[in-house]
Amino acid sequence: MKIKHFAFLLFSLSVFTSLSFTSTFAQKIDSLTVINKSYNFYVIGDWGRNGSFNQRELADVMNTTAGIIWPRFIATTGDNFYENGVASIDDPLWMSSFENVYSGGNLLMEWHPTLGNHDYKGNTKAQIKYSHKSRRWKMPDYYYSYTEMLDKEKILFVFIDSNQFEDSYYKHPDRYPDLIGVDPQIQLKWIDSVLTNSDAKWKILFGHQHVYTGGSRAEGDSETAKYLEPLLKKHSVDIYFCGHEHDLQHIKPEGETHYFVSGAGSQLRPTGYMEYSLFAKSVQGFCAVSALSDKLLVQMIDYTGKVIYKYTIEK
Ligand SMILES: [Fe+2]
Repeated sequence: MKIKHFAFLLFSLSVFTSLSFTSTFAQKIDSLTVINKSYNFYVIGDWGRNGSFNQRELADVMNTTAGIIWPRFIATTGDNFYENGVASIDDPLWMSSFENVYSGGNLLMEWHPTLGNHDYKGNTKAQIKYSHKSRRWKMPDYYYSYTEMLDKEKILFVFIDSNQFEDSYYKHPDRYPDLIGVDPQIQLKWIDSVLTNSDAKWKILFGHQHVYTGGSRAEGDSETAKYLEPLLKKHSVDIYFCGHEHDLQHIKPEGETHYFVSGAGSQLRPTGYMEYSLFAKSVQGFCAVSALSDKLLVQMIDYTGKVIYKYTIEK
């Protein structure tokens, strides 16, 4: 009898533990489209705030979603660590804003970061060097690219450093010390050559600052746009993902390129529509992208586990 009681107690405890553990997680993702044999990846931006502003809740939804569509990597659109980047590879923010937040077992794949203006207020080289310490943080340089094979076609991913295209930052070397002596023309030539030499059908760029926005930074011209838009047009880039704005947006001006803002990883700002806007919402969320040889599906998923926007690009 005693053994039976003990076994029952153990069983009850394990059920309780499992229920109380899982109850904090989103159980399902509402209206998620799953495509058979697609190459999937996530895009998240403006996130590192020690789990606050629903960063942790969103991380749980990312983990649940990953258990369904198994993304190959997670791209960041910068502002990885608020307010002032990281100081070193041993900065406690690595644990409190990254490792202990995106700790779900389904999120232990490669992360491919870009840098934002808040990262530039700290030690940008430490974010590159952390790649040697971490098995999932993979940032080989300030800008880098790689190509993957879909079932029939190739897909090119280019991760850029758009802070270098913000002319005004160079006037504040005290705020952006790691930009001292940087020549943005070198990166521009590199982006041009990567896009020129690629035979990938799909070309996707990731950066921090926007080219188009209907959000709170809509007033005034984008300095990044002046440098980047001619290259996006010249090479018929399919998507430019950015952050900087703390919201989710889809903007499609004339031409090939779709502009997605995925900067809603934690603290939000009001958003809005501009002339070419197809969607804008100020809610914590991320983009889940599914790629096939003939289509790209972008789904925006919020921190409650709801798919709030879907768009398919076909060619
Ligand atoms: Fe930013």
